[in-house]
Amino acid sequence: MTTLAPVATTPTIPRVPAGSGTFPTVRLRRLRRSETLRSLVRETTLDPGDFIYPLFITTGRGVRHEVASMPGICQLSVDEAVREVRALDGTGIPAVLLFGIPEHKDAVGSEAYASDGVIQQAIRAIKDARPELLVVTDVCLCEYTDHGHCGIIAGHEVLNDPSLELLARMAVSHVEAGADLVAPSDMMDGRVGAIRQALDDTGHADTAIMAYSSKYASGFYGPFREAAESAPRFGDRRGYQMDPANAREALREIELDIAEGADIVMVKPALAYLDVIRRVRDRFPVPLAAYNVSGEYAMVKAAAGNGWIDERRIVLEVLTGIKRAGADFIITYHAPEASRWLQEER
Ligand code: PBG
Repeated sequence: MTTLAPVATTPTIPRVPAGSGTFPTVRLRRLRRSETLRSLVRETTLDPGDFIYPLFITTGRGVRHEVASMPGICQLSVDEAVREVRALDGTGIPAVLLFGIPEHKDAVGSEAYASDGVIQQAIRAIKDARPELLVVTDVCLCEYTDHGHCGIIAGHEVLNDPSLELLARMAVSHVEAGADLVAPSDMMDGRVGAIRQALDDTGHADTAIMAYSSKYASGFYGPFREAAESAPRFGDRRGYQMDPANAREALREIELDIAEGADIVMVKPALAYLDVIRRVRDRFPVPLAAYNVSGEYAMVKAAAGNGWIDERRIVLEVLTGIKRAGADFIITYHAPEASRWLQEER
């Protein structure tokens, strides 16, 4: 008679002493078993308080003109912008970032620093309607110049030093209209210092600067240039915005901006530059913003519009990734929908 060996009911797992720091003592899946557990050990959380929502302000009344490449985003006249910020009430979004599309453009971007310019009117109206909402303004000449460059030009050269005075005037006029924060995005050398000096000289020493410190010459700004009508008429911005291949240089830009008086620094765009966000976060103790730019938004919207991706999941994953990389807050066109989704998940 042959006796069969008993059949093992559970697979034999080679035992290693408990606490040896390896499988099967350690099983990382234990903490993934329920949403409550996952939420307890979550390292990065998103909150509507992390978002800054950009608005494109145009002249006229009752204008709400959707940007073709940015579904859901409109050029808004001042009255419509006021409606938009009222609708943000209760979302938890703390700030808007304003871009202006002036009536007339000229070589020196005069409407950028006109006290009755479209942005100055918008700042006053928005602060009037929602005084507690932070109004941040983009300080750059490209939307206001007829050549579409971020500074003034001589021939095909974008002049650095002569542009500084205009940028400083623009920043002062925004603050005098009621802006809470100014955000220079032109990438001229020395502009943070010039703006800081001009604000201090005009009695605005307490107004903070959020500098677009490491702003790359990126193809991801394409849809924005349609929204803001700010594409350069000749050439491109590679002579002043950063080379996408450089990360060490981003640290130099950040360091210089902090030295010149930047209160908040920024990396832009976000998704192709998450390593830069991480390096800046590890190196500098200042608040760090990341700009989830128009092209990043357009790609998500295009894929979602085709039914190719789960939009809500992707948007929240993208924003979580930017925060996990080290951003303290995110400038994003997804702000209203993301806030809604986050509130639904509570
Ligand atoms: C202005 C400015 C740009 C963006 C923000 N400020 C465009 C550019 O530099 O060409 C891009 C924002 C976006 O793509 O969402 N200089």
